[in-house]
Amino acid sequence: MPIRTRPIYGRRMNNIVTARNSILPTDHLLDKEKILDYDKKRKKTNNLSGIGEEIMVASHYEKMLLEKSVIRQLSEFATARGKEIGYENVFDYSLGNPSVPVPEAVTETMIRLLREKDPMELHGYSPSLGITAVREAVALSLRKRFGVPYGTEDIFMTAGAAGAIAHAVRAVTEPGDEVLTFAPCFSEYFPYVNGTGAVLKLVPADTERFQIHFEAFEKMLSPRTAAVLINTPNNPSGIVYSKETIRTLAAILERKAGQYGHAIYLISDEPYREIVFAGVEAPFVAAAYSNTLTCYSFSKSLSLPGERIGYVAVNPACKDAAKIVQMCGQISRETGHNCPASLIQLTIAEHLDHTSDLTIYETNKNILYRELLELGISCVEPGGTFYLFPRALEEDAVAFCEKGRKYDLILVPGDGFGCPGFFRMAYCIDTDKVKRSLPALRRFVETEYPQG
Ligand SMILES: Cc1ncc(COP(=O)(O)O)c(C=O)c1O
Repeated sequence: MPIRTRPIYGRRMNNIVTARNSILPTDHLLDKEKILDYDKKRKKTNNLSGIGEEIMVASHYEKMLLEKSVIRQLSEFATARGKEIGYENVFDYSLGNPSVPVPEAVTETMIRLLREKDPMELHGYSPSLGITAVREAVALSLRKRFGVPYGTEDIFMTAGAAGAIAHAVRAVTEPGDEVLTFAPCFSEYFPYVNGTGAVLKLVPADTERFQIHFEAFEKMLSPRTAAVLINTPNNPSGIVYSKETIRTLAAILERKAGQYGHAIYLISDEPYREIVFAGVEAPFVAAAYSNTLTCYSFSKSLSLPGERIGYVAVNPACKDAAKIVQMCGQISRETGHNCPASLIQLTIAEHLDHTSDLTIYETNKNILYRELLELGISCVEPGGTFYLFPRALEEDAVAFCEKGRKYDLILVPGDGFGCPGFFRMAYCIDTDKVKRSLPALRRFVETEYPQG
């Protein structure tokens, strides 16, 4: 097996300097006028206050302050509107925050650990790869559930899926390498990946089924491709990649890796793995492709996003598997995201095969999906998650969602997910509110789009 032969573009830190000046997240998230104005001022005066001093803060991050987070803005709008008419009357489909509580048993475990564990041990620094017994429990659970022979040494504990992706990308890319992902995608993938010095490239969507547009994908693969980042079940489409999709993806990656003479890693982001609806099968990606780093999070399955806990699981058959987890430990020294809190590590180790009551999400999906179709809004039926991603009734989804606000419907345009013309509904809200939103949805459609 040849050692890596893809070109290396320089040290990570050097590239981040380049990235600061040139690589920005997707255009659609930016307030272009403000950015242009920033660049002009910066050129002229070398700082924003215009008095010609040296810049003292990092321009890359300073510039990010000018970005518009559409979801944040919408959520702020919903809160402000809630103050006027009562939040119960705002049909806020903007945020992917779980709406079912953490299982009572998880709370009890935390209380017991706090009461019974030696506080010096419980609150002491955990090992940088994670608590060994916790890694062992995660490996065992994955082995039992999916038949991939993970060992303790293949697991790296992280702060959620965000932390997992931060380590996985750094472990398998050099600065300047390309990471391909598929539209529609979680908008945070841009800062997650571009912040490492690697460059995220978006493969256009298969808008018929939201599986993978393989023709476009093959055209975008190149010797610079170090990794492919996928997310199934998917935010924002709610789609679960089929066995056939995963099989085809694996076959293409193997063929291309052989052609380029270096491995192409698959980073599989799976925070919604447990939220899969009746009759849908969610294949375990790592079982189909050896060079897989699985990024998992307990944020959604156990409704614990604030506790920041997840892991990277490196398929033991993966190239350089023995090094990757150890390297993640070294990476954590740079990211500063080291040693996730012991209390939450020990807690989830006792609940690896449990979830919150996730049934509400399927109930909500069924109600909304049916209504959308009745209103003439086309939508690929989700197989999991708590998102729907229908086609807007006009080409400009931003305008569509803006009109929706007149009816107190908070919908997110697909532009931020790399898929204009669609919109996302995060239906992780009470079923009662979903039902109460239906007349507003109908009034919106019938008033604004009377022709159907
Ligand atoms: C697809 C996807 N990946 C990663 C994350 C980050 O998850 P975490 O809260 O575990 O960091 C999210 C959060 O919403 C997500 O939707």
